Amino acid sequence: MEECLKRSCPCLRALWDQLFKSEKRDKPETKGDSNEDGKQESGDSAVYMALWAFEARDTDELSFDAGDRFRIVRRTGDWWTAAKLDPSGCVLAAGIVPHNYLERADSVTSQPWFFGKMNRVECVSHLLTSQNKEGAFLVRVSENDNVGHVISVKVKNKSKHFKIFQSKKGFYVEESCCFSSLLDLVQHYQSHPLAPSYKLGKPCVRRKPVSQDLSHTTVDMWELPKEDFTLEDKLGSGYFADVYLGKWKNHTQVAIKILKKNESLNQKTFHMEVEVLKRLRHNHLISLFAICTSSSPYYIITEYMEKGNLQNLLRSPEGNTLDPEILTNMAFQVADGMTYLETNNSIHRDLAARNVLVSEGYLCKVADFGLARFVKEPFYLSNDTKIPFKWTAPEAIEHGLFSNKSDVWSFGILLYEIYSYGANPYPGTSKRDLLAELKRGYRMPAPPKCPQFISKIMESCWSDQAGDRPSFKQLRIELHDHINHVY
Ligand code: ADE
Repeated sequence: MEECLKRSCPCLRALWDQLFKSEKRDKPETKGDSNEDGKQESGDSAVYMALWAFEARDTDELSFDAGDRFRIVRRTGDWWTAAKLDPSGCVLAAGIVPHNYLERADSVTSQPWFFGKMNRVECVSHLLTSQNKEGAFLVRVSENDNVGHVISVKVKNKSKHFKIFQSKKGFYVEESCCFSSLLDLVQHYQSHPLAPSYKLGKPCVRRKPVSQDLSHTTVDMWELPKEDFTLEDKLGSGYFADVYLGKWKNHTQVAIKILKKNESLNQKTFHMEVEVLKRLRHNHLISLFAICTSSSPYYIITEYMEKGNLQNLLRSPEGNTLDPEILTNMAFQVADGMTYLETNNSIHRDLAARNVLVSEGYLCKVADFGLARFVKEPFYLSNDTKIPFKWTAPEAIEHGLFSNKSDVWSFGILLYEIYSYGANPYPGTSKRDLLAELKRGYRMPAPPKCPQFISKIMESCWSDQAGDRPSFKQLRIELHDHINHVY
């Protein structure tokens, strides 16, 4: 690669010398990379293509447009050094790029409609974004073994899924119409109906991946100067903090949580939140980018979710029209994030629709780990009196026994919020009377039109004995199986 670049673009000799010198010094990570077809990366010779445009934020980074082609010079973590190529393969420029913006150019994986391995939940979340019009489609590889490829289409604001069969004859949806490749099959159905009244339109718009860091310069740098951040609109106000929309270095959108001043408990809570957030990384949990603690008030910087919190969304005109498929999809995403917390021995302690944030395509992430603790034993004895009663399990209210199973109780209340489009739980019951009522065995009825399988799940989440409640792992599987009962 070194010699090839030096020969094809001698004008950039100084850059190559510097890159390859540091490459030898750093002993870069050259992990093998297999693409969707299972093909193994062949050294450094593969050509990659950009799926989205990227704008450099500093001189080391390389700007590019969707469709630009690259060779990879060096792979280090999430930020690779790449050489951008012109149509004849000559190097135009080189610099650092986010690796997840690139895909191998020589296979079906770089087709705009090919989304690789993806479950139905994620697929629906992609298709239903407002940028996608009727007929938007994608081809994905089902997460269910033995299903293979599926073509998913947006029809009347819902999703329809067709299995693509594969046999010796080739690829087909209907056995009478076989194709030698996925590309031929897709091209055919772009001009012929896939089923009566289902026509493929434009490929589904791809969601830009959310970076786990603000930039390659801040990887593992948690403390950043406050001056790097500017505050814009206020997004919300909580007991411990106010939250603003903001920017990092005037270009990267973030949410900035500002701890309310001069209360020692707040600062302690803030530090605990940071400790917990730093360790937890999952697609359905809000990512922490940085903290600013060199002066008061402290800032905590997280990714921004443009649709705000789930409670407000459900109560809005947009939320009122969401159909049960999307509601179940959102419930699954929360269960997925909570399964990750459960697996990592972390308890949320304030799971509620107000603490779930939503972005385009109804992507949901669990937020606000302010009350969470890492636990060694299954139970953590609390002396905290600031309890959200209507969301909290009886044993947690009465004895401070918070656990993953008390989070499961709260998840049952969250399901009630979801399927009632944001109603307050236990309407007409006061906080004071609630515990006695619950101990007498009273449980809220499911909201009207709530699917029966969800009512059953709610009931199980509200089992009197914590041990009788399902785990998040089980809840996740149950919701997943329901959503994916076909593929
Ligand atoms: N409200 C509180 N935190 C938020 C975030 N990260 N994005 C959007 N709205 C929020």
